[in-house]
Amino acid sequence: MTTVGIIGSGQIGGTVARLSVAAGYNVVVSNSRGPETLEELAAELGPLARAGTAEQAAEAGDQLVVVSIPVKANGDLPAKALAGKVLLDTGNYYPERDGQIDELNTGAITTSGLLQRDLPDSQVVKVFNNIFFKHLLNLARPAGASDRSALPIAGDNATAKAAVSEFLDSIGYDAVDTGSLADGWRQQPGTPVYGAPYGPFDDEDGTSAVSGVIREGLAAASR
Ligand SMILES: NC(=O)c1ccc[n+]([C@@H]2O[C@H](COP(=O)([O-])OP(=O)(O)OC[C@H]3O[C@@H](n4cnc5c(N)ncnc54)[C@H](OP(=O)(O)O)[C@@H]3O)[C@@H](O)[C@H]2O)c1
Repeated sequence: MTTVGIIGSGQIGGTVARLSVAAGYNVVVSNSRGPETLEELAAELGPLARAGTAEQAAEAGDQLVVVSIPVKANGDLPAKALAGKVLLDTGNYYPERDGQIDELNTGAITTSGLLQRDLPDSQVVKVFNNIFFKHLLNLARPAGASDRSALPIAGDNATAKAAVSEFLDSIGYDAVDTGSLADGWRQQPGTPVYGAPYGPFDDEDGTSAVSGVIREGLAAASR
């Protein structure tokens, strides 16, 4: 059975872990403080889940490893264990949390472009960064549902993007191709597809945002 590695098991990483287990994947959840601090989450997720170190989560991911940590912590990622893996990068740059990063401030590179540069032996795909974690949990729908939401994905490798699209499909979402990692700014904070299409944060159920809505939002992005 396929295993998804999860590095960073907070709001978004923990939610992707929940959706993954619900879809029948094994998951290995990890964080910065060590597996013993994730025993409760692993127990809640059930028999398909276990807690490990970030390195163990990276190694356990057959193909896919979710990276869901603050951008400032990217340097701690286990590069060797992540080589050859498809990284699902949920990261957003918030200078007040991450510190000032010049290249991101100027838009010279996107957040996921930066991660790809740091980890050249992995294939980075930007995904899940534009949706509030409670909406991500509650808007998942089976394939073919008329109110199935879509998530934008950006990446430089077509095979990696296809694998991520297949994964999204299995956990309840359609994928809309944003383009390359350099195009990933179209789904970063402040763009039309960031948060808003899925409804206000105080409505935990969220509002469905089908593929056409996300496609239009990506096309309308400007900087
Ligand atoms: N919250 C949302 O709705 C949302 C939506 C879209 C995108 N995002 C973005 O996704 C990323 C994660 O956000 P979040 O809200 O899920 O954050 P969070 O709830 O604060 O969780 C962050 C996770 O990352 C782990 N972590 C921190 N430093 C680490 C390191 N050096 N090595 C391994 N794990 C580390 C933390 O572990 P410890 O607790 O042990 O430190 C924690 O499990 C951020 O870039 C955020 O902007 C968030």
